[in-house]
Amino acid sequence: MPDQAPIHTRHGSSIGQPLTRRDGHLKVTGGARYAADNHPDGMLYAVLAGSSISRGRVASLDVAAAKAHPGVVDVMVPGDHPELPGDPELKDGPFSFRIDVLQNDRVRYANQPIAVVIAETLEAATEGAALLAPRYEAEPARVGLDGAEPFVPPSVGVGREPDAGRGGDVAEALAAARHRVEATYETPAQYHNAMEPHAVVAQWDGDRLTLDMPSQAMTMAKARLATLFGIPPENILIRSPFLGGGFGSKAGTSGPQVLGIMAARRTGRPVKLVVRREHMFGPVGHRAPTRQTLRLGTDAEGRLTAIDHHVLTASSTYDDFFEPSASTSHTLYATPALHTSHEAVRIDTGTPTFMRAPGEASGSIALESAVDEMAEACGLDPLEFRLRNYAEVEPISGKPFSSKALRQCYTRGAERFGWATRPREPRRMRDADGLLVGWGVGTATFPALIFAANARAEIRADGTGLVEIGAMDMGQGAWTAIHQVAADSLGLDIDAVAFHMGTSDLPDGGIAGGSGHMATTGNAAHAAGSDAVAKLARLATEDQRSPLFGAGNAGVVARDGRLVRRDDESRGESYADILARAGLASIEGEGSAAADQNAQKQYAMHAHGAVFAEVKVDPDLGQIRCTRLVGAFAAGRVINPRLVRSQYYGGMIWGVSFALHEEAVVDLRSGRPMNANLGEYHVPVNADVPSLEAILVEEDDAHVNALGIKGVGEIGITGTAGAIANAVWHATGIRVREAPIRLENLLAVPKAAE
Ligand code: MOS
Repeated sequence: MPDQAPIHTRHGSSIGQPLTRRDGHLKVTGGARYAADNHPDGMLYAVLAGSSISRGRVASLDVAAAKAHPGVVDVMVPGDHPELPGDPELKDGPFSFRIDVLQNDRVRYANQPIAVVIAETLEAATEGAALLAPRYEAEPARVGLDGAEPFVPPSVGVGREPDAGRGGDVAEALAAARHRVEATYETPAQYHNAMEPHAVVAQWDGDRLTLDMPSQAMTMAKARLATLFGIPPENILIRSPFLGGGFGSKAGTSGPQVLGIMAARRTGRPVKLVVRREHMFGPVGHRAPTRQTLRLGTDAEGRLTAIDHHVLTASSTYDDFFEPSASTSHTLYATPALHTSHEAVRIDTGTPTFMRAPGEASGSIALESAVDEMAEACGLDPLEFRLRNYAEVEPISGKPFSSKALRQCYTRGAERFGWATRPREPRRMRDADGLLVGWGVGTATFPALIFAANARAEIRADGTGLVEIGAMDMGQGAWTAIHQVAADSLGLDIDAVAFHMGTSDLPDGGIAGGSGHMATTGNAAHAAGSDAVAKLARLATEDQRSPLFGAGNAGVVARDGRLVRRDDESRGESYADILARAGLASIEGEGSAAADQNAQKQYAMHAHGAVFAEVKVDPDLGQIRCTRLVGAFAAGRVINPRLVRSQYYGGMIWGVSFALHEEAVVDLRSGRPMNANLGEYHVPVNADVPSLEAILVEEDDAHVNALGIKGVGEIGITGTAGAIANAVWHATGIRVREAPIRLENLLAVPKAAE
């Protein structure tokens, strides 16, 4: 279709509007139906029993006691459950993880499912699971970053080299450097802890399977389940209209969800399985701990001459996911010599996975802290130091950026925050109550990703439209933002366009991950709508009876349900009239999104930002409060400023959490997470969240994708944690190199001041 161009689309009527969530009313009235809200007739409840050891085997389970409990219908244990035609240990892609579905009696991590009790009520199933009284043959657990011999993993993240570099020899550059900083930072294991736990309501009808199940990637989930259960993917319907958070942990199909489907197979009845909070700490992934050593060198003027970033991380004994923490160093600062490397240990833990800004979040706090330490070593303001080392091309590749408005982010953020009055020395500011006040800055960066997706659009005889795509809303606002793009693509008001998403029978909406869902689904929806409009335009411009006859597709504009001549907007006709004359009930369009390989070869594509933090520290008690955060972000086109701001707030709050709160405390003897609950696994509550401001810095990107969207989901976490750590140093003069920073780190004031 040579003259099918996005030219028909009038941007700006819906795109760019700060619409409130279209599903907001449903959410606040309880009408939004999450997976576990479904109760098909005859439904049973399945409850997991989880291992309390992290390595060894299950020697015995009192299955008879559980089965004898009133209301218990059945119990699944290793050797007694429906056969799976597919291998749960199969790894057929980077998003496919080995899962524990009772394939044997081995225990590979704490909270691994060791049995499933199925009952008429949730209470009976829970009580039945408590009667199993497991006995174990335990082996010594390998725990923590020193728990095993480090090795170089075959790849990190998704298929990235564990070792990377560019430019000169780092060791030589460091030896010749005027200023050197070498420092080691530790970040803990973190668990996603979405408010909605992993859940499934499974119903079999012969070889057809219907699932209410939160999924960040329905098409991938269908493929995996089809292989596991030996049925065609088209026999599986997944409904995932709302996720109560995913953060990466719902990108793959989890073992517990598969166990729920097996329980439905076993009993011949619908089954609901909801993972209990404590069992979220094991079988559904986590952010791996890291120990990162940064070595930086500069010349006399504070220009970086070397960056060396080494990462030690941990994975499970049975699967591969390696946190790619050095990637921020590939992107952010110009240096003639750059080297990054990763090592890992295998310990008795559940397999780590993608967790919001995987790699970037953990790497960012280390790099941004080290850069801050170096600014101080050079006697430079930390913002001035960052500007002096601004990367005009991507350091790791030498490629130009498709766009990069980071300088504007620094400027606007600093202005808004009042950075100019910051004393360089630490411990110079106090508030009226005598609390130490510190200000810190961090740079944010996250790659602009896009996945493959398809969409379908329709213009109907009554002049209304429809757009369909199997997209997922994790709370980020997909129901609204994609609908906005859909409306503009059809040249219709948003209320004249029906929008369907959230089920797997719709065109493949790709993955809601990697901050790429808006770029992915938006571009697919945009292409589908444009296709429908182009077909309609052809009907009109090739018809002598139309006032648009002869205008050519490029000569018409779609606007408010009409096609009008570009050169004379008074001449045109409505969609309804065009379809009526053609005798058509509707006209359909299709579209897709995918990465533009040529553009990706030519350009480095990243969103950027600058985060400024204020903390207050009690000089006697060490208590830390983050009191103010200003983030300025440039991430290409903004579809909905209200929702984008909300994404930045969410990311920045994760940054607060990373810097000051979150940590899975693992028992060194047993390997069990000791705070596997939301009472003791600290995430920020309202009182911990400071005054937040997010500035949306304009950025036009002609290369990243047709709509110029870079993605906003994860970037807010990067930069923020480092800015807070740097502010803590500025308040106290104490450099804490482990996250989360706790008050006991700051009680050593006299010692650190020596
Ligand atoms: Mo995110 S970790 O890409 O869901």
